[in-house]
Amino acid sequence: MLGLNYYHIKKNILQARKLVIKSTSLAGSGHPGGSFSMAEILGCLFYKHLRFDPKNPTWEDRDRLVLSKGHASPGLFSNMAVAGYFPESELETLRKFESRLQGHPDLKCPGVEFCGGSLGTGLSYSIGIALAAKIDNKSHHVYTIIGDGESDEGQIWEAAMTAAKYKLDNLTVFLDRNFIQQDSYTEQVMPLDEELIGDDISEMWKDASRWKTGDKWRSFGWNVLEIDGHRIEQIDGAIKKANQTKGVPTIIICRTIKGNAVEHMEDNPQWHGKAPDLDIVPLINLELDAQFMIAPSIIAGDMTNLENEVKRCVNGRADYIHLDVMDGHFVPAKTFDYNKIKELRPLTLIPFDAHLMISQPLRHLRDYVDAGSDIITVHAEVCDESSFGEISDVLKQNQVSVGLAINPETDLPPWSYQFLPKLDQLIVMSVVPGKSGQKYIPETHEKMRYLDPILKENNFRGYIEADGGVNLENVGSCYADGARSFVGGSAIIGQHNVREAIREFRHKVLRRRRKNLLEQAHKFGGSELVNKWIGLHVVGKKKEKITKIAQEEGLI
Ligand code: DX5
Ligand code: ZN
Repeated sequence: MLGLNYYHIKKNILQARKLVIKSTSLAGSGHPGGSFSMAEILGCLFYKHLRFDPKNPTWEDRDRLVLSKGHASPGLFSNMAVAGYFPESELETLRKFESRLQGHPDLKCPGVEFCGGSLGTGLSYSIGIALAAKIDNKSHHVYTIIGDGESDEGQIWEAAMTAAKYKLDNLTVFLDRNFIQQDSYTEQVMPLDEELIGDDISEMWKDASRWKTGDKWRSFGWNVLEIDGHRIEQIDGAIKKANQTKGVPTIIICRTIKGNAVEHMEDNPQWHGKAPDLDIVPLINLELDAQFMIAPSIIAGDMTNLENEVKRCVNGRADYIHLDVMDGHFVPAKTFDYNKIKELRPLTLIPFDAHLMISQPLRHLRDYVDAGSDIITVHAEVCDESSFGEISDVLKQNQVSVGLAINPETDLPPWSYQFLPKLDQLIVMSVVPGKSGQKYIPETHEKMRYLDPILKENNFRGYIEADGGVNLENVGSCYADGARSFVGGSAIIGQHNVREAIREFRHKVLRRRRKNLLEQAHKFGGSELVNKWIGLHVVGKKKEKITKIAQEEGLI
């Protein structure tokens, strides 16, 4: 089984999001909200599943990507730039006269398949391409992204009947189900699920029994898959399932958040079609750089029933699952090996983050890949330039993300510098590896500060994972040190309620992130910018919470 290509996809999505912000802010208009709700969908397509050649955009056998909700063109163009169709700098011409990159996709831009200006028509167009492919006996696939506001158009439902009638199994539709259209919430304008009484969109999220969109498509004869549209592994899994489904078209209903990844844009109808101000852009970029993941370590649980520990991670909504492999040699203890990982793999799609505390990582590397690891981290103490080079190559070839770990007493070895630009994950151990439940070594903070310039100078663009003794007291400072993924053994899996523990971890990190962003706002533009930043957070209780932090820190 191949890996998920997790960090590769993630890094490209991040870059694409930054380009959306850059291009819309420079244009002074555009649609960031809907570009961000479909960001992960496009990421999984462009960097994993879609067959295309940016140097030959009209290649006959390419898969076709139809962006029916064409107002989200900044999202499409940004990914096309990251994927190599044109230089990223061209995004600066968005919505300008003479530019190929307009407010809606246009065929004059090579690689664009469809002019998505009028909503409701892209699915019909896709049916045409898919039918033609069948007639011509071609194996390429058609992927179409429609919006939920767009689903008000009757033509969508005519197309739904048609695709089922012609058994278009070469067509996969993504519904970007973000619950918001131009003027308001979809469930108020024209409900696809149940009508929303009142103004609190979170009501719709809480109660899955109110979701009726899937039933509608099912009744039209479609294969319906329903997923969290921001989780890479779920999108990947759904695309694979869709490709295996014969005789019917598939729709993947992706529950998404409009403006996802920028707090003040999230779930806020204002950001459907509005560009961020230029003075806010640096803060948004910092926020985008500060997305984080929580990774419970299952060895802190019942070692005789790791299956159950994985289930607890799934119920707890872990971002990925940290698997501590110990061989009884590199560290005195023994936990499990690739055979166990293979047994656990069918239980969940959540990425497996395998931390190999073993003496000869190269020897069994392929077994760990085949077992279904998505991220594999090996220790610098047992590698050298040549073995790590080989490890890195094998992992990249198999779409497994590459991690390097150093023990508390280990410095980053000079041979590793050359690998830093391509390294996906770095673990700076904050306990002596060997068991869970140890105390966080406070000197790790100092080590992180020392490593920071080295990593910058050597173009490290990966994610730092904090591992060992991380808990609610220190997770904020680990974030401040630069860590973006957080392993929790005893502080998460060791707790009775894993879901609650993960939620608290997230709150702690989020609080630290908000504080950090306020400090940066103050640095860039004093209390005026701080107030402006706070004022953007209009949905829910965010403004109150952020104001409180700003007051506590004396920033306003
Ligand atoms: C240590 C492992 C850690 C550890 C995490 O050898 O790599 O992942 O088990 O557990 P806690 O959070 O309890 O230190
Ligand atoms: Zn670990």
